[in-house]
Amino acid sequence: MEYSGSLGTACIKLACGSLSIVALLSSCGGNDTAAVTASQDPVLVAQGRQIFRFDTFSDETFWTDTLRMHDVISAAVDPVTALSVGLKVDAEALPPAVVQGIQNGSIDLKSPETTVALLKLNAVVGLQGKVEAVNGKDTLTRVGITCALCHSTVDNSFASGIGKRLDGWPNRDLNPGAIIALSPAISAEKKAVYNSWGKGKYDPRFNFDGINGPQVIPPAFGLSNIHRITSTGDGNDIAYWNRYVSVTQMGGHGTFSEPRTGINVTNGTDDQVTSKLAPLQAYQRSLTAPPPAAGSFDPVAAQRGRLVFNGAGKCITCHSGPEFTDANLQLHFPSEVVSEPEPNGVPSYASRSATKMYRTAPLRGIWQHPPYFHNGTAATLEDVVRTYNTKKSLQLTDAEMADLVQYLKSL
Ligand code: HEC
Ligand code: HEC
Repeated sequence: MEYSGSLGTACIKLACGSLSIVALLSSCGGNDTAAVTASQDPVLVAQGRQIFRFDTFSDETFWTDTLRMHDVISAAVDPVTALSVGLKVDAEALPPAVVQGIQNGSIDLKSPETTVALLKLNAVVGLQGKVEAVNGKDTLTRVGITCALCHSTVDNSFASGIGKRLDGWPNRDLNPGAIIALSPAISAEKKAVYNSWGKGKYDPRFNFDGINGPQVIPPAFGLSNIHRITSTGDGNDIAYWNRYVSVTQMGGHGTFSEPRTGINVTNGTDDQVTSKLAPLQAYQRSLTAPPPAAGSFDPVAAQRGRLVFNGAGKCITCHSGPEFTDANLQLHFPSEVVSEPEPNGVPSYASRSATKMYRTAPLRGIWQHPPYFHNGTAATLEDVVRTYNTKKSLQLTDAEMADLVQYLKSL
């Protein structure tokens, strides 16, 4: 086993009680979607989970030294504010005394000191804080972000925003733009752009092309058999995009280079990314799309809807195969896609990408993550179906559209 990284420390922080990988998999748990299939190496998957949840790739250089988010958090981000911008708290990382304190109100959720205490417990999903005693007081000296910030949420089992981790589920409550805009290092002009994005959206190309076209944060589950990654199919495997994001968006130390877009970024002199891509990818491949809850759709209508999907709706011509996508065979021109033009007169997202095309979105677990399409222009599955009916002149009846929605909810 080559990789060591933060595995040991992260596990101790989680109080798993054991450093063995097998114990890690069973006792750090709390993720029903992480079914490890026989074809995957469980050791690699366990390493990948640690990286996904806890590794910053040394992006503190960006979030602390450049953006000074440690100052912002210590000065103004109490837990109530943190939860209001969509940050989530991992209930399993909270010791019983803290749980009790939250329940009986003796812990002050309106004090930034409590946020620092939660960071010290490693309980804020997607944030890694270093808390040190300065003049006898716990002080946040470094902070960085992990993949889990955007691609994990919690099940709210303890309270709203506090619960067990659900890795791979996009955090559609998170307002990354509003968080970045809190930094004193950002110009007023850029703050206006960041503040315009809203919940569940982030533009992973704005820092290169200056175009304000935020994307919905997609799931990182259900991708195990898909070899076109992102809504524009930029990469042939998950690791391609993980390298892109960790280096060019998170500010992790490493290199990303893409001749198709002319992007060339190197952060730091130490590569904190490359050795982690294989386990990180293995972990994401282990995350299966969550099945719909019983009773969340009408099974009889869904059966009828399946016939519409395969027939009059012509959906299956692109949404084919077990993942409901032809992504491994072809990409599609923007002219074929019903989610364009972009809102607010923004240039096509495809035009900003490496492929200039769109990937047919996989549909397993689609019930879980409204709004829909790369730009979030359809608020509900009803909106999706109405949009197709109009733009593709399908002439479906209201009953057929209603059945099709039930089918989509069943996937
Ligand atoms: C600030 C929020 C944010 C962070 C942090 C982030 N992502 Fe993403 N991620 C996004 C957005 C937005 C997209 C959509 C990009 C697109 O389609 O062009 C995306 C796309 C993806 C995809 C493609 C999904 C698909 O359907 O093909 C994967 C996989 C992914 N991210 C995994 C990761 C991993 C692993 C990390 C950590 C290295 C990470 N992301 C960090 C916001 C984020
Ligand atoms: C020409 C190929 C094509 C056809 C036909 C097609 N789709 Fe799509 N579909 C796509 C592409 C490409 C995307 C991704 C668009 C984007 O990212 O904005 C998509 C996205 C979606 C999404 C949103 C997924 C998400 O994660 O947000 C849903 C739902 C969907 N399609 C359902 C349908 C239904 C229902 C039909 C039939 C009425 C249909 N599609 C017909 C290509 C197609």
